[in-house]
Amino acid sequence: VVNPRVVIVGATGAVGQVAIDILQQRAFPMESLRLCASHRSYGKLIQVGEKEIPIEAPTAEVFAECDIAFISASAEVSRTLAPLAVTNGCTVIDDSSAFRMDPQVPLVVPEINENDIEFHTGILSIPNCSTTQMVMSLYPLHRHIPLERVVVDTYQSVSGTGRGAQSELMEQSKNITAGIDPVIEQYPYQIAFNVLPHIESFDESGYTREEIKMREETQKIMHCPELKISATCVRVPVSVGHSESVHAEFKGPMSPETARSLLSNFPGVAIVDDPTKNAYPMPLMAHGRDEVFVGRIRQDVSVPNGLAMWIVSDNLRKGAATNAIQIAECLLERGALLR
Ligand SMILES: NC(=O)c1ccc[n+]([C@@H]2O[C@H](COP(=O)([O-])OP(=O)(O)OC[C@H]3O[C@@H](n4cnc5c(N)ncnc54)[C@H](OP(=O)(O)O)[C@@H]3O)[C@@H](O)[C@H]2O)c1
Repeated sequence: VVNPRVVIVGATGAVGQVAIDILQQRAFPMESLRLCASHRSYGKLIQVGEKEIPIEAPTAEVFAECDIAFISASAEVSRTLAPLAVTNGCTVIDDSSAFRMDPQVPLVVPEINENDIEFHTGILSIPNCSTTQMVMSLYPLHRHIPLERVVVDTYQSVSGTGRGAQSELMEQSKNITAGIDPVIEQYPYQIAFNVLPHIESFDESGYTREEIKMREETQKIMHCPELKISATCVRVPVSVGHSESVHAEFKGPMSPETARSLLSNFPGVAIVDDPTKNAYPMPLMAHGRDEVFVGRIRQDVSVPNGLAMWIVSDNLRKGAATNAIQIAECLLERGALLR
């Protein structure tokens, strides 16, 4: 195909809405755009540029008439709809966790492992949002001096959970400041004015699924199955933008100066790091931007060959929609769609 026919499944969601904007901002070459969501939204009109596009049901017919499907709903929905799309000749770029660790499915951050695209058989996955920004800042360093071990603590925004959690944070904040009891639906506890060291379910090891994803996905994307990674994932009352405190140990010396130079030459990474001017990355700065911002770059004085960094990125953009659309651009460039 010259210009593909595109469908977004989950077009009314936090990621889907941003994906619609980014397709326009990047002038993604499309012959047509169709939008799907759940039965709750059928018939609803979504403004896209000058046009209003109706939400449809994600049927076999829709996939048969499209070349690329961005599926951004849930793992359960992806497990049903991605195979249906592929059977109908439509290449899937999936945002969910459903296929990420499947050896037949490339898990891609184009700046790092674009060539993995070649082995796809119809489905390609994007990583978890907290993984993407971490690998974007570790990979340029790891290419220079291999990593030995990584310890990461995250400060993840509620939009990582989806549209519903964004509304819940706003409602709780309004109600609490007005002296009204907050409604708690999205998390086990109130998220406004609070911090929850709990993202996804706990397993018997004591780690959560989110923490395990950060480890396994990083190993797959960077092709280093032995890399030691320990994560603690924390939900904070921020609307958009995930932050991460990363402590990395390398197999040889890695000075902050070398790290700064390697990071500033890596596409998609921007350094904001001038403690004398209180310059460091923050979610409010990253919201609406595609870059992964890195600051607080310093020697970790507690270990030999250690480096500490603070990493912030818009989880809905590079953490999701931007990365997915970059994969589609690579597929087009390589002529690697199913049809
Ligand atoms: N949020 C992030 O930062 C982020 C980052 C990376 C990956 N992801 C992944 O992206 C996906 C979407 O996340 P989100 O944050 O955008 O969630 P969200 O805001 O809750 O949106 C979910 C979307 O899925 C649609 N949907 C629900 N059930 C459906 C069904 N049976 N068939 C078709 N569509 C259905 C919803 O439609 P209705 O409006 O009709 O209910 C809505 O458009 C998830 O798999 C998530 O893991 C999210």
